[in-house]
Amino acid sequence: MNHTSETRRAAVKRHARDHFEKWALSYDNSRLNELVFFPSIRRCQREILAWQRARGGGPFRVLDVGCGTGSLLSLLAADDDAERLVGLDYADEMIRRAAEKFAGGDCPDKLTAVRGDAEHLPFRDASFDVLTCCNSFHHYPHQPIAVAEFFRVLRPNGILILIDGFRDNVIGWTIFDVVVAGVEKNVHHAAWSRVRDLVQQAGFARLRQSKMSVLAPLLVSVAGKQ
Ligand SMILES: C[S@@+](CC[C@H](N)C(=O)[O-])C[C@H]1O[C@@H](n2cnc3c(N)ncnc32)[C@H](O)[C@@H]1O
Repeated sequence: MNHTSETRRAAVKRHARDHFEKWALSYDNSRLNELVFFPSIRRCQREILAWQRARGGGPFRVLDVGCGTGSLLSLLAADDDAERLVGLDYADEMIRRAAEKFAGGDCPDKLTAVRGDAEHLPFRDASFDVLTCCNSFHHYPHQPIAVAEFFRVLRPNGILILIDGFRDNVIGWTIFDVVVAGVEKNVHHAAWSRVRDLVQQAGFARLRQSKMSVLAPLLVSVAGKQ
């Protein structure tokens, strides 16, 4: 990677962080959270339950990348099999809010909030059974590196659940490539075929992709590490 593209990527990440440092203050009460983000988090939770059932239960560890205020992990914490739940986000204020939510919940001991970058995950290889990434992937300037990191930190038989804007029909394109890109700047909602290629090239198998319709269409990609 040359110096210019590295500088540009750093600027994209700083821009995203500044955007979310401010939004964190009202994020949980925002209409977008209620109508788009929270339903996608519920979908993630259902995918994890189905995966748990299919493997016959047992303890599991989750990393939620771009965790925002930690809503998904707070829901998962009620599951006795959820052994360790780690949320990572690039924005300090999001992490502060997630940590507050974790500390005030019923199972503070198994929840951790970490400030970090999706493209450089501060975890050892094979540390988690489940990796979730909801409504965050379009902010990563080097998506192939992020997916390679997802693969690295997952254990064999682990599962990746990646949810982001679906921009492959007219409605999705208008919402994500025109409106969201105009407001958030420097974001990139990957086409479903691009996500498929990235996930498969990173080494994942058994990829399943579907469109989920809430206020905006979302692309749900679920894959396993063998
Ligand atoms: C729309 S919010 C989604 C939060 C949560 N996953 C949800 O669905 O409610 C996107 C989150 O991605 C985070 N983010 C953006 N770039 C990131 C990066 N490079 N690494 C980790 N998190 C990042 C933002 O700080 C923000 O909290």
